[in-house]
Amino acid sequence: MKIPHLKYQILFIFLIHAVAFAQEKSPRDLALIDNGWHFAFGHLNDTDKDFNHGTAYFSYLSKTGNGDGPASKLFDDRAWRLLDLPHDWAVEQPFNEKGSFSHGFKEAGKGFPEKSIGWYRKKIDIPASDLGQVISLKFDGVFRNSKVWFNGHFLGTEESGYNGFEYDVTPYINYGGENTIAVRVDASMEEGWFYEGAGIYRHVYLQKTNPLHISTNGTSITTEIEKDFATVLSSVTIENKGHYKGLIAVTYTILDSNGKQAGTFTEKVIAPEFYKKAVYSSRIKVYNPKLWDVDDPNLYSLIVEINQENQLIDLHKTEFGIRSIRFDAEEGFFLNGKSLKLKGSNNHQNHAGVGTAIPDELQYFRIKKLKEMGSNAYRCSHYPPTPELLEACDRLGMLVIDETRLMGVNDLHLENLKKLIERDRNHPSIICWSVGNEEWNIEGNSTGERITTTMQDYVKSIDPTRPVTVGISSGFRSGISSVVEIMGYNYMGNGDIDAHRNDFKHQPGMGTEEGSTFATRGIYFTDDAKHYKSTYDKKPRPSFFSIEEGWKFYATRPYLAGMFIWTGFDYRGEPTPYGWPSVTSYFGMMDICGFPKDNVFYLKSWWGNEPVLHLLPHWNLDGMEGKEIDVWAYSNCEEVELFLNKKSLGKKKMEQYGHLEWKVAYQPGTLEAVGYKNGKKILSSTRKTSGKPEKIKLTPHQKILEKKDGIAVVTVEVVDNNGWHVPTTNNEITFDIKGGGKIIGVGNGDPTSHEKDKFIDTITSVALKNLEEQALDNSLLLQQLPVFNENNWKQAFEKRDYKNPAPAYVYRASFDLNTLSKKDAFTFFYQKIGIDAAVFLNGKMIAPSSADAQAYLLDAEDLNEGTNTLHIIATPIKKVNDWDVVNTNPGIIQVLKHAEPWKRKLFNGLAQIIIQTDGSGKPIVLSATAKDLKAGSIHLDVKHSVFPKLN
Ligand code: GAL
Repeated sequence: MKIPHLKYQILFIFLIHAVAFAQEKSPRDLALIDNGWHFAFGHLNDTDKDFNHGTAYFSYLSKTGNGDGPASKLFDDRAWRLLDLPHDWAVEQPFNEKGSFSHGFKEAGKGFPEKSIGWYRKKIDIPASDLGQVISLKFDGVFRNSKVWFNGHFLGTEESGYNGFEYDVTPYINYGGENTIAVRVDASMEEGWFYEGAGIYRHVYLQKTNPLHISTNGTSITTEIEKDFATVLSSVTIENKGHYKGLIAVTYTILDSNGKQAGTFTEKVIAPEFYKKAVYSSRIKVYNPKLWDVDDPNLYSLIVEINQENQLIDLHKTEFGIRSIRFDAEEGFFLNGKSLKLKGSNNHQNHAGVGTAIPDELQYFRIKKLKEMGSNAYRCSHYPPTPELLEACDRLGMLVIDETRLMGVNDLHLENLKKLIERDRNHPSIICWSVGNEEWNIEGNSTGERITTTMQDYVKSIDPTRPVTVGISSGFRSGISSVVEIMGYNYMGNGDIDAHRNDFKHQPGMGTEEGSTFATRGIYFTDDAKHYKSTYDKKPRPSFFSIEEGWKFYATRPYLAGMFIWTGFDYRGEPTPYGWPSVTSYFGMMDICGFPKDNVFYLKSWWGNEPVLHLLPHWNLDGMEGKEIDVWAYSNCEEVELFLNKKSLGKKKMEQYGHLEWKVAYQPGTLEAVGYKNGKKILSSTRKTSGKPEKIKLTPHQKILEKKDGIAVVTVEVVDNNGWHVPTTNNEITFDIKGGGKIIGVGNGDPTSHEKDKFIDTITSVALKNLEEQALDNSLLLQQLPVFNENNWKQAFEKRDYKNPAPAYVYRASFDLNTLSKKDAFTFFYQKIGIDAAVFLNGKMIAPSSADAQAYLLDAEDLNEGTNTLHIIATPIKKVNDWDVVNTNPGIIQVLKHAEPWKRKLFNGLAQIIIQTDGSGKPIVLSATAKDLKAGSIHLDVKHSVFPKLN
């Protein structure tokens, strides 16, 4: 055998080590259980419509395991809708003027008792071999006020719509069989003044660990950077839910981003006692560390292993970064010792088409869009974010202010704050904890001062490495702002920032909110009747400031660490200044799809590193011939010259953080800007009057989907016969998808659009009425219905002598179909009211479905519009014990109305459609058609590779 060169030998050894680590089977298992949930609406105040839940003689609070209605494991949910999480039921609803302004006028939640309670149920098999493990259900977030049952056992209530929570289900498990999870979600109350969605809108996991294991969020990592090494200080909380007593070895291993070991430490310790926790810690030196930075977000990982008697019993991985942060009262923010101005945006987590149920890859899409704008910071206004958002910020290099929901010092507030910090503290992206926002009742007074002091100290008791801020909108120089560690100025118009700073010279500060400007993407002339706001950067209100005014203020004051614009993206709700029929906000630098408004290019010019030259408006101003148009250029070039149809309209000097303006008499053709640096032309940019709309063009943000739940965000536009974008079209486009994908949402960024975000099948349940019976004198299950004596029908199961029943019974029930469409699908989900049964629809015998022996697919030809009759002939179920409960509910009829094809109008030339793989690995073809336009289509490849998740 040829001996490889020494360099390759070493590489080979490294690789073996990395592979060995990656292959080490973690004894813990974290399985995503997002797929295959049954869903139905309950009711806020009509118990009947809430499946009679909570009415049992012995309730689930009286006796453990007594969950009733859908909370019972015996409940039949087959007629419910089947869906995958994450799910936001609010986004699926139509718009309604009676809806909530802040939640974007969706017909859900507050004010809609029939759409404010959602029930979710899922069955999971747990093998007998899992006996002895600790098994828990982990929810990343449910909006809101959720109650959870496992096999009928009530596990608890989580009121917050933003907390992650976990329930131990170990003792309630049916090992080697089926188990039922039931969740009741009550979204009747709002926590915020912005769209919050409704339902299980984040991931759910089933976690299995050894009884002795690392606690959830039990790892804490901080780093200290020295000259040529960094000290990584980690602590780990280990809990014992078993009876093991004795020594355990805790090993901490740091791997670099290539999986190469960068340091390790092992310690033998005494395991904590039964149901106790203990914290252990380590200090590991990493030499020549590669720092985490916004431009090069290098990550390390810490693997903590527990070995018990030489057997690996837990392994947990946490990603972290080595970096230093500092806020300085004179010089602003420092990352790794270098001054860095925070160029931030505030954002709510919702997006076109999907609402708050944001697929993981969409989080990355959105953070990348913000980075493209030149942004380096993100404020999670005003609640704990989805974990994947922070993962995206870590991996893409985006600094984060992580914010809790509500200020106060009681368990409600402090426990929630603690959960947030413990969950998020290892993300290198997080540079600051925010303990509140615009708390108008307390901002400027001593109550605010006292609460802030306590919350701030409480934060420090958990994480001493990051400072605390509050977004403050009034009462600068008093109350909260006199004690908060980092002053968070919400709007220059709300107070004198320089005056505050003069009073509090030792307090660093930043603009936690600025802007709140109004703009509609693609609109250049304000039209209040149409709720259109022009996108030229203007003061939104007399006491507020344009983006340019805001940035000039913050950029020129070194003592201010930076500014966070309200907002990066438009979001549902808060359609200020218009209100209904507008349903989304106007504040975004981008619309709700992530299509840039022109301000993005102002920011790109002064926030980014690339040369920028952008002209507004577009040059398809049909009917404006000869009229004077404001032409603006956003650029970081030193000079810009404007040409219309090759004729120069003058060269202008760019002021720092400014923009340039010309008045131009409109004529169609080509508007061109040429940018100069040091007198040399460095780039140009044109706006051309396009021809007629010709063809639909589809452009996915990625062509290969590699994740099992991967997405493609597809831009839909119309081009003319030169292939030029037409910026004024509003054609309605219809979509069709084939292969291994599904469409999960459509949008177009129009704040006034009331088109559907989602096209989903509608499922309704029709109850059976007037259940009656007649006793039969033999147990023959007839093939044909005889004529029964009308006088012999009596209410079914009434005063039945279960000890001496008749040989068989015939039951009769009716159900009404107000409308009957032959395109719909009808299913009778039968529940056994006898041992054997023969079922007849409107007198005709029907056969059970091949997939489910207790379900009958009803042929629309056999159904009547109006009343229908079911007969069931069945042999009776006998009671063994007097207290046995015999089912008397024969089931329910499900009507499934197929969704119409997905469609959306373009808004000013653009729409967006989001596609997700269905996990089959098959390629996807999306096609789009519209009247008078040539169709467009794209092909997406799907290459799933599986990355096991360790934590
Ligand atoms: C701020 C508030 C934000 C948003 C914004 C709209 O006062 O903190 O959440 O409502 O106003 O202008």
